[in-house]
Formats: sequence, structure tokens, C-alpha cells
Amino acid sequence: MKSLSIGSAIVLLVLVAASESAKTESTIFGPQPMQYPMPATSTFIVSDFLQFLQTAVTCFNKLRIPEERFPLYLAGVFPNCPETQCFVRCLSANLNLYCDETGSDIDRHYLQYGLGQDYNCFRQKAEQCLAANTSPCNDPCEAAYKQELCFLEEFRKYVDSNMNSLIAAVAVEKTENNPVYYNMNCRLASALAPFGTRDPPPGPLREAQTACVKYLGICKTRLVQYNNSIYPTDHDTMCMVRCAGIIVGFWDDSQGFKLEGLMQLYPQLAADSRAQQQILSCAEQRIATCPPPDTCAKAYNAFRCFLDAQKHGFGVREPQPEEPMSTVVDAQEFMRSISICSKIQRIPKNLQDLYLQGVFPNDEKTRGFMRCFGIRTELYDDMQGPNISRLYRLFGTGQSETEFRRKAELCIKANQPLLDGQDKNVKAYRTLYLCFSKQITAFIRANANAMP
Ligand SMILES: *[C@@H]1O[C@H](CO)[C@@H](O)[C@H](O)[C@H]1NC(C)=O
Ligand SMILES: *[C@@H]1O[C@H](CO)[C@@H](O)[C@H](O)[C@H]1NC(C)=O
Repeated sequence: MKSLSIGSAIVLLVLVAASESAKTESTIFGPQPMQYPMPATSTFIVSDFLQFLQTAVTCFNKLRIPEERFPLYLAGVFPNCPETQCFVRCLSANLNLYCDETGSDIDRHYLQYGLGQDYNCFRQKAEQCLAANTSPCNDPCEAAYKQELCFLEEFRKYVDSNMNSLIAAVAVEKTENNPVYYNMNCRLASALAPFGTRDPPPGPLREAQTACVKYLGICKTRLVQYNNSIYPTDHDTMCMVRCAGIIVGFWDDSQGFKLEGLMQLYPQLAADSRAQQQILSCAEQRIATCPPPDTCAKAYNAFRCFLDAQKHGFGVREPQPEEPMSTVVDAQEFMRSISICSKIQRIPKNLQDLYLQGVFPNDEKTRGFMRCFGIRTELYDDMQGPNISRLYRLFGTGQSETEFRRKAELCIKANQPLLDGQDKNVKAYRTLYLCFSKQITAFIRANANAMP
């Protein structure tokens, strides 16, 4: 059943590819499109196909979507249901193509998926589609899904043109006419596995995995995944985890999950009591949700709690006191404030693009934006002006606060005579932006790619 749907998905993938190339568009008699400059690549890093697949696999695992969906998604078939919507959001957000606050970024889609199309056509088509699909919507996954479907055709072409070798591999299998489907599943798994190369599990766990795959009769190529710490949510994998857990000592059918077994394998975990707590409480909750007789699923769900915690790293941050920086705006909040104030002030897209490159021209809209931004981040106040100690904590690394303050006050004072009779926006622009422009610009450029 599972294998069958993967088989049909591959067929579908090929069909999609065929129909796409048969389609020709005539633009000869269309209206003359407005000319836009090509997008600048400076603030966006295009993911290569391996990174793309890796991101897709990570989202897929994170959202615990049934395995047989993966080939469908890769074929660009996205059924309209909550988990698919969230997958689309996760993938696009992690490729930095989409974010909840500003929506789909046309230029970035062009750079990532555009494959040398005419930029102006691409942009016009995307703008029209996005305008029709950007209605307010409470569910972030649904909102992302609606907008990202505007790029479905490009997504399909992109995957298709990069997947040729995989399709070829599967096609050979198909024409051989033997019990192919099971093998195809293995092929697909092993073809995708190397892309997810992560820290391999410690030796004893790898050996246990190897023994269990053999004992359970799971196809051997799946070891490539397991040896890369990739554990999809299929039942074979779940039973492999139970088996390996019994061997290395983190699972016992009657005692349940045993953290000591993992602490022996991962010394950093033994030193991180906070992570231990987190894993244990996660495992308790998850095991409670498994149907009682299925020990494979129970063992697997507990193990996943460990994997989730491992992603954030063990050790180092152990006795963390409540860090004092929490009162200061962080990078994400900073970037979020830019998009929120852009919306509040109805900043046109072309200006917003400049802001995201750290450029703030001295015009009326931008001055209004800067006041909104300053007040929202509490870096600025109409009465007090810029909050220098707060700015220092955000930007001041590497210099003394006295020096930072001296320069700031000098600049703010120098601007004072220019503020007489001017409105509040001018004051914010001159004293917050002009006096800290270098830091603000550098900060935005450093974090543009880290936008959620
Ligand atoms: C996985 O790791 C085990 C133990 O190190 C090794 O024997 C086996 O060959 C590996 N398998 C693959 C497919 O990488
Ligand atoms: C400036 O920011 C700091 C740190 O966030 C805060 O404690 C202080 O009250 C602020 N000062 C003013 C004048 O708002």
C-alpha cells in the first residue's frame, strides 16, 4: 500500500514533467510588461538541491507526516489539508522564501526556483497571484499554503530538473518487472538519505542498528538513513528503534524508556540535567499517546524526544541563570518589528525591500516608519529620545559603554538644532536612525537571512 503510492507518485512526477514541457505560452500579443531591475542576491543565499531536499526531509520528520506522502510532495502534489499546509510553510520558511509577517518573497522565489525564466514575466505573474491569495487568515499554515501555491509550477520544474538522476534510477527498477515496489521504496530511501548527513550515532548504536535491520528483515539500504541519524516515522523504523534500544539499553518493554542507556552513549547528555528533564517529560507525554500494545511505537516516540532535544545540543549551557539580555529586543523581534511597522505605516514594497537591506532613505514614509520601529522595540521614546543603554546592549559588543554613550550623545546633540519646529518623525529619524545607522544597517544585514 505504502510502496504502491510511492510508485504512483513517481509516475505522477514523470507525467507532471511531460505536461510542463509540452505547455508553451504565447506572450507575443500580451501587454508590454513593466520593466523591473533584476533582484539583488546580496541578502539571500540560494539553497542547492541537496540543502533543499534536506530541508524538506527535516520538515517532513518534524511534522510527523506519513512516509508515503513524501514522493507526492516532491512531485508538487500538495493536498489541501492542515499537515500539508504546515509542511509548505515549514519548507518555504526554512528556505527563507516565506515568512509569516511579510509573506512570500517574489525575488527569492525567482532566485531559488526561477531557473533562468524572464524575470519580468515571473514577477508579474507572481504579483497577480499573490494579490488574489493574500487575504487575512488566522491560520499561519493556511496563509503560507495559499501564497506559496502561486509558485507551484516553478517548484515542480525545479524539482523535476534536479531529480532526473533519481527518476532514471527508479525507471530502471520499474522496467525490470520484478517485485519492484519494495525495492523502489528502499531506493528512494537510500537516494534521499545521504542528503540528510548529520552526526552519525555513536558506535554501539550503529552496531545495534545493523544487527536489528538484519534480524527484522528490513531492507539494508535503510541503514544509510539510520547511520545518518535519520529515523522516519514508518513502522519498520519504529521496530528497529525498539530492537536497538533493547540492545544498547535505552528501552525495555516492561520498564519502558531508560534514559541511563542514552546517557552512557552520550556523555554530554549525562552532564545536562535540563535536557534530561526535557526528554523525560516529553517521553512521558508521548508514550501516553501510543496505543498500549504497540511497543515499537512507544520506544520510537520516546527516542524521538531524545532526538528533538539533541537538535538543540547538550551540555555547555547547563547551569544557565536567567540571562539579563532578555529585557533587550532580540534579532527576531527586531526583524519582526520592521515588518510590523511596515504594515502599520503602509510602506510600499519597494521601500520595504530597501529596509530589509538596511537602507532607510530620508523621506516622509520612512521617517514615520522609523518612529514606529523605535517605539515598538523600545529603542526610542518621543520624550526621552533614543535609549542609549538599550542600544548599547544590542549593538555595543566590543566597545565600552562610556565610549558608545559619548559618541551617541555627541551625535544626538549635533542634530538638536535641526529639530526645531519639526515633527516627531523627523526627531526619531535623525536621533535614532542617523546616529546609529551603521549599527542598524549591519544588524539588519546580518539577520536578513535569519528571518523566521
Ligand atoms: C552503518 O554502520 C555500521 C556500524 O558502523 C556499519 O557496519 C555499516 O556498514 C553501516 N552501513 C551503512 C549502509 O552505512
Ligand atoms: C532604557 O532601557 C533600559 C533597558 O531595557 C530600561 O531599563 C530603561 O528604563 C530604559 N530607559 C528609559 C529612559 O526608558
